[in-house]
Amino acid sequence: MKLLLIGSGGREHALAWKLAQSPLVETLHCAPGNAGIAEVADIVDIKADDMIGLIALIQREAYDFVVVGPEQPLAMGLVDALNDMGVRTFGPTQAAAQLESSKAFTKALCDKYKIPTAAYGVFTDIKEAKAFLKTMKAPYVLKADGLAAGKGVVIPETLKDAEAELKEFFSGKFGDASKTVLIEEFMHGQEASFFAISDGKTALPLIAAQDHKRAFDGDKGPNTGGMGAYSPAPVFTNEILATVMEKIIQPTIYGMAKDGHPFKGVLFAGLMITKDGPKLIEYNARFGDPECQVVMRRLQSDLLPILLAAEAGELDKAEAPAWFEEPVANVVLAAKGYPGDYKKGSIINGVEEVNEKDGVVVFHAGTRRGKNCGKLKANGGRVLNVTASGETLEEAVERAYDAVENIKWSQKQFRTDIAHHALMSS
Ligand code: AMP
Ligand code: GLY
Repeated sequence: MKLLLIGSGGREHALAWKLAQSPLVETLHCAPGNAGIAEVADIVDIKADDMIGLIALIQREAYDFVVVGPEQPLAMGLVDALNDMGVRTFGPTQAAAQLESSKAFTKALCDKYKIPTAAYGVFTDIKEAKAFLKTMKAPYVLKADGLAAGKGVVIPETLKDAEAELKEFFSGKFGDASKTVLIEEFMHGQEASFFAISDGKTALPLIAAQDHKRAFDGDKGPNTGGMGAYSPAPVFTNEILATVMEKIIQPTIYGMAKDGHPFKGVLFAGLMITKDGPKLIEYNARFGDPECQVVMRRLQSDLLPILLAAEAGELDKAEAPAWFEEPVANVVLAAKGYPGDYKKGSIINGVEEVNEKDGVVVFHAGTRRGKNCGKLKANGGRVLNVTASGETLEEAVERAYDAVENIKWSQKQFRTDIAHHALMSS
């Protein structure tokens, strides 16, 4: 088959790496890709949010199958356009992607289908929002309704800070995304990211991972796209899995179909495992990044038949995927300053060498090759994902950090405590 993968992050490198291993794939293109993806796919220089460019490319190349990685093209309706053109595509339509692009949409679905989640209010008026805030307890959870690159959630500790923050939200802190604001009850517990694939009717459970959202050790500093991940997630027991499927995932897939926008694609549930059981924090309509990297490394089965079955509406006939037992850890290397300002263009050495080590696979995110020198250069905020497997999670983490030490890069910034929470509780 001739495939196009859309995206350029660590998530897409992991997907490209896995898809390239499929005996069904003859040709794999990736737009716009990165220097790592270029080693397993042919790169096409069209950005993931360039709808016109992508559609022209897809018409020209007559791909058999298109896989959409990031959220922007989904929210922009790329899958709808490709469905209209008769191109087989893996990913939700614009209406179904509202599970990610509108938090208010998801909360309304939770109400309607009794899906456990935090109590909340939705506001377009600051006075009403302030009055509601006074009825809530600290810490306060404020969320922009729309897409805000993972930064649209703020959790102030005091009412005064929460009121000041509300004002900023309504004055356009996140542009149109924060014209509508959600205020939620704060849930206590451990977080896990769980993934399921759906064909619109059936949900096929994948596995869970844990992410580290804050920039610095000890969960300090600003929120980021994610600084590391590991799988399995010890909090995510088989009992929790069964509850999540029954109370959260299945009612969502059922409700989305019943309401006229069946969800086909990867459903990424951000969950809080509370003392009253798992509750939904939020949905994303795509794989998580950096979680996808550890999930792909643990997936033993061929990924492509699963994606094809989801697109064809035939997941009920698909076999449950097989997984490697070995835990996998992922340490993200970001550029100094991320998630704030950072420099691009610094040279990175040692990636090829560490890729040779036992259990190690480095997935690229913001990287490119120097035009003349061919050297690997930093080209974004999150730059590399150092993944390692091991017989135990401890070994996986040790191997990952050993590889991190051997990557020579002047701008290297990373957390030194990936998976420490799980290691301490084991
Ligand atoms: P979100 O983008 O909705 O996943 O939120 C980002 C992060 O904020 C989550 O990963 C949680 O750590 C935290 N968060 C969001 N909503 C809540 C909530 N209702 N209670 C506690 N923490 C939350
Ligand atoms: N790692 C969280 C996300 O991809 O949104």
